[in-house]
Amino acid sequence: MTDAMTLLKSECEACQNCPLGATRTNLVFGVGSPKAQVLFVGEGPGEQEDLQGEPFVGRSGQLLDKYLELVGIPRDGGKVYIANIVKCRPPHNRDPKPEESESCLPWLRQQVRLIRPKIIVCLGRIAAQRLIDPDFRVTREHGVFREKGGILFMGTFHPAALLRNPAQKKDALADFQALREKMEELRIEN
Ligand code: URA
Repeated sequence: MTDAMTLLKSECEACQNCPLGATRTNLVFGVGSPKAQVLFVGEGPGEQEDLQGEPFVGRSGQLLDKYLELVGIPRDGGKVYIANIVKCRPPHNRDPKPEESESCLPWLRQQVRLIRPKIIVCLGRIAAQRLIDPDFRVTREHGVFREKGGILFMGTFHPAALLRNPAQKKDALADFQALREKMEELRIEN
């Protein structure tokens, strides 16, 4: 991690800006290269993430890793950074409440400022509605790139949704392949 990112993480570790801070086991700040060109944003930590302090390490994380590897951008390959809308686990894996997302978002914004990704991929409805469009519908708008503030945003299926509904895996893979093509177009070499 760059020094600025290390500092940000240690500030974030003290965060009690919403009630989720009181019930977390570990803060799940984010993982990957602070120089990543592609930032993936999920919803919030689940049980395994809360226990291990790292995003997407449970069953849905294994599926995410599979897609990342299939398109040649493995989690530890220096090209990606993975974070969430909220950095502490919502109890019983419920959706984060709007006010929890709101109070956590400044941390993500600061991560974006430090990383300066060219592409942000929103994993699932919660991230896409926060970062792309409050009316975003994953089934209708997945895989579409749109530019906002000099960054290309794309929303795709949340891996947990794919575990529940494997019929959507084909579409999700096509989105990751579209990401790969976009990286080539932007000369984000690997
Ligand atoms: N689901 C998410 O949205 N994020 C994680 O880190 C794990 C599961």
